Amino acid sequence: MLKLYETIDKLEADGKLNKEEFVYLLNNMSDSLSRYAIEKARKKSLAYFGNRIYIRGLIEISNYCKNDCYYCGIRKSNRNARRYRLSKEEILSCCRLGYDLGFRTFVLQGGEDPYFTDDILSDIISEIKKRYPDCAVTLSLGERSRESYKRLFDAGADRYLLRHETANEAHYRKLHPENQSLKNRKECLKALKEIGYQTGTGFMVGSPWQTNEHLAEDLLYIRELSPAMVGIGPFIPHSDTIFAGKEQGSLEKTLFLLALLRIMMPDVLLPSTTALGTIHPKGRELGILAGANVVMPNLSPVYVRDKYMLYDNKICTGDEAAECIACMKRRMESIGYEIVVDRGDYKKGVF
Ligand code: 5AD
Ligand code: FES
Repeated sequence: MLKLYETIDKLEADGKLNKEEFVYLLNNMSDSLSRYAIEKARKKSLAYFGNRIYIRGLIEISNYCKNDCYYCGIRKSNRNARRYRLSKEEILSCCRLGYDLGFRTFVLQGGEDPYFTDDILSDIISEIKKRYPDCAVTLSLGERSRESYKRLFDAGADRYLLRHETANEAHYRKLHPENQSLKNRKECLKALKEIGYQTGTGFMVGSPWQTNEHLAEDLLYIRELSPAMVGIGPFIPHSDTIFAGKEQGSLEKTLFLLALLRIMMPDVLLPSTTALGTIHPKGRELGILAGANVVMPNLSPVYVRDKYMLYDNKICTGDEAAECIACMKRRMESIGYEIVVDRGDYKKGVF
């Protein structure tokens, strides 16, 4: 077995490690090992992207969900969740506002809400593309059929985000009820890629029962899928779920994993997530400094913000979009980075 620091060098040189090597790194994570990886990752993202941070405007279109993932605050059996869904007009006015604020990517995210049929979504997507032909539309609406993904793609959607959550079968079972399967999730991701979406996946760090072996499997799966984007953030318990009393994921481990991802996939789009900003006041800045290069400020109308609660204490729920983006600009500038107005497409190796 190579020594620790050399294992990170090997990840950089080969763009991959085997499971045992990832586990070895994760089992031996320390401040200095982490500093070494983060330093390397930051240099990589500076080399590929400069000090430019892409922004994506997040529009949370519905918190109705037919699924019951044990970790999630908007799971169907949470009776305390106050449910809402945005109308086409509301979604379009979020886009208008976002466009004026400089966003060129809109992310329509929501629970698996049967109200949003292919017809309804296609109509909304094509209207956004008609009004803003220079913008990218990203969907993050969970598992749908291949046919559905194809119809939405044909309506103009460019990208799709679907975290695999955990690449380990047994672990997946512990986080989800019987009727959900990792197999289906992976099939969805495969279909999305084949259809031509720029696809994003990802996982939570520190979800209940997660081991370093599971995380190593996540990294191997991601490397094999080779997505355009990888979204990771700490698990944060939600008080109305059965995971209410579970421990939250750690800042240090999330940053270490961000760094490993950046070293493994230097040109991947890597968001510094809201969850990271929720567990530490400077979480998103630290994420950028560990190799992330995307932030996703919230464009949802303020009256729904506190209802799209995937976990407790989510940040930015009281702020107007304009304040949120101004705050984000300041935060990025405070660490020497700037936000760019650009679709920020995934162009392998070309930036
Ligand atoms: N803590 C952190 N992240 C969560 N997500 C859902 N619930 C939680 C939670 N309690 C993440 C999932 C999902 C994404 C939209 O939010 O990874 O894919
Ligand atoms: Fe949303 Fe600061 S980034 S309020």
